[in-house]
Formats: sequence, C-alpha cells, structure tokens
Amino acid sequence: MQKPKIFLTRRIPQAGIDLLVKETDVQVWPDELPPAFEVLLESVRGAAGLVTLLSDKIDKQVIQAAGPSLKVISQYAVGVDNIDLEVATRLGIAVGHTPGVLTETTADLAWVLLMAAARRVVEGDRSVRKGLWKTWGPTTFLGYDIHGATLGILGLGRIGQAVARRATGFGMRILYTDLKRKPEVESELGVEFALFEQMLREADFVTLHTYLSPETYHLFGDRQFKMMKPNAILVNTARGAIVDLEALYRALRDKTIAGAGLDVTEPEPIPMDSPLLGLDNLVITPHIASASYQTRTRMAVMTAENLLAGLKGERLPYCANPGVYKS
Ligand code: GLV
Ligand code: GLV
Repeated sequence: MQKPKIFLTRRIPQAGIDLLVKETDVQVWPDELPPAFEVLLESVRGAAGLVTLLSDKIDKQVIQAAGPSLKVISQYAVGVDNIDLEVATRLGIAVGHTPGVLTETTADLAWVLLMAAARRVVEGDRSVRKGLWKTWGPTTFLGYDIHGATLGILGLGRIGQAVARRATGFGMRILYTDLKRKPEVESELGVEFALFEQMLREADFVTLHTYLSPETYHLFGDRQFKMMKPNAILVNTARGAIVDLEALYRALRDKTIAGAGLDVTEPEPIPMDSPLLGLDNLVITPHIASASYQTRTRMAVMTAENLLAGLKGERLPYCANPGVYKS
C-alpha cells in the first residue's frame, strides 16, 4: 500500500522524523529558510499531512492548494497564529501543536532575558571584549535588583505560572493580569491579580505570556510605556506584535523605561536597520525560547504523534482547533 504523503516545511529533530518515516512518505523542505509562498503551494499539493513552523503562513490558499487529501496540520510550536484555524476547522482539518513541553524552557529564557537586562550582562560582555575593562568601577554597570522587586505577568497561563515560580525564589512581589482571575493559582503561587494599568504602574519588570490576538496587537505603545516606571524592564518571549517596536524604541531611547529583553519581534527577523539595535538597554535573542536540546526533541515527537493520529482519523493528542470534532 502506498504511504500517505506528508510535507515538512523544515527538517525537525530526528526523533520526530524517525516516527514519521515508518508510516508515511516524508518529504522535507531542505533549506534553512522557509519555502517561498509559490513553492509552498506547489509542495503541499496532494499531501495528507503538513508539518509547519511559525514562519510559514498557512492560509486558505495553502490549505486549498493541498487539496481534499489534507487531514492534519501539525505545527512544531505552541503558538498557531500563522495558521488560519477557521478555514482548517471548516474543512475538517485538525491542527496540532506542542503545548506544555516547552513551558519550563520558555520560562527559563524569559528569566534569562529579565536578568540579563536588569544586570546589563550583554553590555558588560561587550565592554570586556572591546578592552574597556580598566578597573573595578564604583558606579559602572549599575543595574537593578531583581530580588525583592515587583514582577508583573501579563497572561497567567502555563508559561506565566512557570515564570511566577521562578520569581518566588527571588522573593518578588508578583502581580498578574489576565482575562479572568485565577484564585487557585493565586493561593498556590502567592500572586496578586491586578488590572492592566495598575500592573504597568507598579511593576519593576513586566513579562508577556499572552497570545497574539486583535486585543493584544500593539498592546504596548507610547501610552503604556509612559505609565511604566522609569526603572521598569519589559520582557517579551510571547509574540512580537504585542509590542509596537517604534514606541519601544522611543521609550528605551528616552529612558521612559530602563530596558527590554526581546526574544520576539515584528517582523522576524528584526531588520538590521532597526534603530533598536543601536541601543545598549536592549537585550535581544532570535526567537529561541523553546530552543533546548531536550525540549526541541520532545516537540518533534509530539508533532509526529499529532500528525500520525490525524492521518488515522484519531483525535489529536494536542489539538489547537478542538472545534473540528464538534461537527
Ligand atoms: C514559539 O514561539 C512557539 O509558539 O512554540
Ligand atoms: C502554552 O501557553 C504553554 O504554556 O505551553
């Protein structure tokens, strides 16, 4: 019997490929960069399953180009804002993703950025390499205490809670803003609910762990930065477009806030002529929050398991559009 064709828009860790090759005809886009849109349309034709990344726009046109054979889209990420879920659901195509496994690893990187920005780690490293370390300076490279400070968490989901647990070890006061209050989590982690603007006014560090949606698009702009403390540091490991980067540039340049740590930007990659890259009070990484050996392997296995379940018509273990099972 002919194995069903599946198309992977990029090579994922081998543990995932190993699971897939047994049961499917695996076709992998070989480059480091995503396929051009026209190439993507061509490559998905006749596929029963797709493995996709955040950097692939999976819209109606792509889904239609795959044709009626398409049963499942398995995203190698937790976020699925690059996929038109509505169209997929309407056409009965299950969409898988990888929640949970990357929670702690992502929280680790949020913490890295928070600490690196607060204590000017990257700036310090650069100055050493430039030969600028002349002596012990009584007032050089002063940063901000993390311990005992107030942390504001936007979005107290899995990742937000994992960050809160880290903050507890630093004796921080922890505020959170979410669409709904989470009393069980409040008592378990000792976090306090705050309205968004109150959180902005009181927090020394603000870390974003929410989805990108019309409500969160450019949620951080000039007005919000002005409400924040001059010593505040913003950390974004969620989605770039939650922050208006032009407003962030002004806020960092004018010291409206003290610093920022970004793992995500809009667009990605950040253009090399972005003025943000000229600022010392920005620490930036290239969307690597889930990038640990352990987690990327677990994500690959989960992606393969979702895909194989979808091919068999079984419920995906981790489904991003459960509505597909209601009709
Ligand atoms: C990464 O950003 C993800 O959504 O997994
Ligand atoms: C997603 O929000 C996760 O925490 O895995």
